[in-house]
Amino acid sequence: MTEVMKTVGLYKENILFDVNFSMNKGEMAAVMGPSGSGKSTLLYLLSGMDKPDEGEVLFDGDNICIYSEDMRADMRLKKMGFVFQQMNMLPNLNIMDNIILPAYQSRQTKRGSKKSEAQLRDEAAALMKKVGIAGLENRRITEVSGGQLQRACICRAMMNHPKLLFADEPTGALNKAASEEIMEEFVRLNREGMSVLIVTHDSKVASCCDRVLYMLDGKISGECALGKYEISQKHNREIKVSNWLEKHGW
Ligand SMILES: Nc1ncnc2c1ncn2[C@@H]1O[C@H](COP(=O)(O)OP(=O)(O)O)[C@@H](O)[C@H]1O
Ligand SMILES: [Mg+2]
Repeated sequence: MTEVMKTVGLYKENILFDVNFSMNKGEMAAVMGPSGSGKSTLLYLLSGMDKPDEGEVLFDGDNICIYSEDMRADMRLKKMGFVFQQMNMLPNLNIMDNIILPAYQSRQTKRGSKKSEAQLRDEAAALMKKVGIAGLENRRITEVSGGQLQRACICRAMMNHPKLLFADEPTGALNKAASEEIMEEFVRLNREGMSVLIVTHDSKVASCCDRVLYMLDGKISGECALGKYEISQKHNREIKVSNWLEKHGW
């Protein structure tokens, strides 16, 4: 299997210490660990939002740490997707306009998409239908539920067809039913070939992933391999992850 992402000896002063991590194409992985252990920092480094003090981050074989600020922004826009808990949707735009925004931005770059606005709106509408929020196009972001807004965030993250999707606590603000729906969405998108990396505090969320990493004091201190999610194994996987977490003092 080929790697989509790999780190070599990642070091960030006082936060991350010699993190060596790799992710295969098509993989769905979770990162768990106590608050302050460095999970978000790891995501910022992997996505080029921040730079390490030492070590390398290889994305599709290229060391992104030596890219310029502009190159990293372009890479994020065109090859990566982001679903964060704080959501960063713009309050002055409706749901549809929030969703198409990254695609719109991509159009304005060199070698960006050449799609018309009508095409982008059609694609966004198709994504919204897929994730079950068709009909909410013209709502303001304050006029939909937390689960609906998070699904809109997933649509926005998907607009530029990312190779790798980063999610930081994507279900943190959601109730149990909405969390399950969001995870079904991630699993479905992963089956279509997109690699997914999720930071989560929820062992049920982690148990939907192929692999769970445990982060402690800026190091990856353990790993739990689960294989591809099957609904019939739901209960057993959750037990396996819970037991594994207990071993780590969770
Ligand atoms: N910009 C920053 N400057 C200095 N320290 C930071 C910064 N961001 C986070 N930290 C510290 O780094 C550690 C890891 O934070 P973070 O990656 O957010 O952890 P997690 O996501 O696991 O809760 C924490 O001790 C935090 O206080
Ligand atoms: Mg965090």
